Amino acid sequence: MDLFEYQARDLFEAHGVPVLGGITARTPEEARAAAEQLGTPVVVVKAQVKTGGRGKAGGVKLARSPQEAAERASEILGLDINGHRVETVMVAEGADIAEEYYFSLLLDRSTRHYLAMCSTEGGMDIETLARERPDALVRVEVDPLAGLDETVAREIVDAAGFRESDREELVRVLVLLGEVYRENDATLVEVNPLVKTGEGRIVALDAKVTLDDNSAFRHPDWTAYADESSDDPLEIRAREKHLNYVKLDGSVGIIGNGAGLVMSTLDVVAAAGADLPGQPRPANFLDIGGGASAQVMANGLDIILSDPQVKVVFVNVFGGITACSEVAKGIIDALGMLGERATKPIVVRLDGNAVEIGRHMLAEAAHPLVQVSETMDDAARRAAELAAAAE
Ligand SMILES: Nc1ncnc2c1ncn2[C@@H]1O[C@H](COP(=O)(O)OP(=O)(O)O)[C@@H](O)[C@H]1O
Ligand SMILES: [Mg+2]
Repeated sequence: MDLFEYQARDLFEAHGVPVLGGITARTPEEARAAAEQLGTPVVVVKAQVKTGGRGKAGGVKLARSPQEAAERASEILGLDINGHRVETVMVAEGADIAEEYYFSLLLDRSTRHYLAMCSTEGGMDIETLARERPDALVRVEVDPLAGLDETVAREIVDAAGFRESDREELVRVLVLLGEVYRENDATLVEVNPLVKTGEGRIVALDAKVTLDDNSAFRHPDWTAYADESSDDPLEIRAREKHLNYVKLDGSVGIIGNGAGLVMSTLDVVAAAGADLPGQPRPANFLDIGGGASAQVMANGLDIILSDPQVKVVFVNVFGGITACSEVAKGIIDALGMLGERATKPIVVRLDGNAVEIGRHMLAEAAHPLVQVSETMDDAARRAAELAAAAE
């Protein structure tokens, strides 16, 4: 789960990381009051959206009076930044920036370590820096058991080539950022820019934190971060129906029973689509689990069919505890429940327990949208072809 900048800023502050005052506002009037309360000659009005590049998109603006803060807020509120609508701004104290640096700490699954990245050239997009000036971005592997201690922090700061006189303070700040990471079960803490002010203070001006959802059970306070506005609407609906659904960006809707089977189904569909025009790919992951009832099948089909990108649905079920006859009944009942809302072809592959009865039931029902395939490969090919033809 990603946090908004103001939430990450508050975590930084709670751990003693130097930050500037910041107050959120949802209207221009609130922005004016926030600027008055901060009382600094310059404030910065910052869009609170969970995407980078806000500055470039016009979502970060200076204001030299509370009145200007209200005006800048009215320009920024409602903006669309990379598909994220701005509902809240943060009015922050304006910093006198002398230099901009970059620092991040993230989980590197491939090495099973943390990776710290640091540069004396911050502020800009880190991908661009990594591509154009890779030597300017220092990478240091951090042992997750030891964490980002002073020794490692010093190694990072030395390798990045900071000025001698700034190093002690930078080491202190990096260790605190390491604590933010560890104590909050984060998978990412990124500060871009970390700045040196005209007075020589080191301050985190931007704050990006991603929390590890797997740790939610031991952080009851995370419920305060719940934020449906940045989730995919289909995923929200699926969650309400207790479905195990993940939206993907292709055109072949997928329903299966068992996460392993659904994962393999994604692979065979992608492989079947690879040689076809438009290269159709899976539109989602949906595992309806064992013992799925007609209602669960209907809920799953309903969600998938309301995804406008979906051209065809592939139902792939291997009957184990659940008999294929139950699944067939589920599909038929679901189509009955959906009525007019069922509009796209459905390729069904059933195998396993009571498969003959299941196939017979589907044949009897002879629903015009349903096509039955004998094998998974054949069904995947058919689904991919139908999707390609519908492009
Ligand atoms: N409080 C602030 N005072 C002065 N300048 C700021 C402040 N916050 C951000 N900036 C400037 O705006 C730029 C973009 O802001 P930032 O928070 O990094 O957003 P993003 O990374 O989404 O573009 C920063 O690189 C910095 O130069
Ligand atoms: Mg930034």
